[in-house]
Amino acid sequence: MKASLFFVGLVLAVPVIAKPAAPDPGAKVYEELCQACHMANAMGAVGAGKVTALAKNPNLESADYPITVVTGGKGAMPWFRGQLTDQQIADVINHVRSHYGNRYKDKISAADVAERGLPAPPGRER
Ligand code: HEC
Repeated sequence: MKASLFFVGLVLAVPVIAKPAAPDPGAKVYEELCQACHMANAMGAVGAGKVTALAKNPNLESADYPITVVTGGKGAMPWFRGQLTDQQIADVINHVRSHYGNRYKDKISAADVAERGLPAPPGRER
């Protein structure tokens, strides 16, 4: 009896263990570009300037807001239109909206970024 329960447990556990973690291309973009200011834990920073925390941030509930900020910039936040592809912008926004205590389930696509994003500020296209 004990042995058979053990095997049932094993059979149930194996798919969980064997399943590779879904690749998250947005995590790589975050680490390479966003983390320098927003920090690895997305808590932001206060120093010479203030970097808004992205962790547990209700402003991310509507994807339109991060699309606007990441494509067009805001204050000391640089714009990434022209530097990243629309796909990379979508990936990193999906990453931030589903990590660091944010649990927004709807995913955006490159087409959403193309439609709803801002152009780089005039005269400052990269
Ligand atoms: C050079 C530093 C810097 C980098 C790099 C940077 N940010 Fe920011 N970010 C800021 C600052 C500063 C603000 C606050 C801007 C303001 O409100 O004036 C901000 C604000 C934001 C906001 C709006 C938060 C809110 O609640 O208003 C989002 C979303 C955001 N950043 C996402 C990102 C993502 C995603 C990346 C990487 C692609 C990134 N940032 C890279 C400095 C940076």
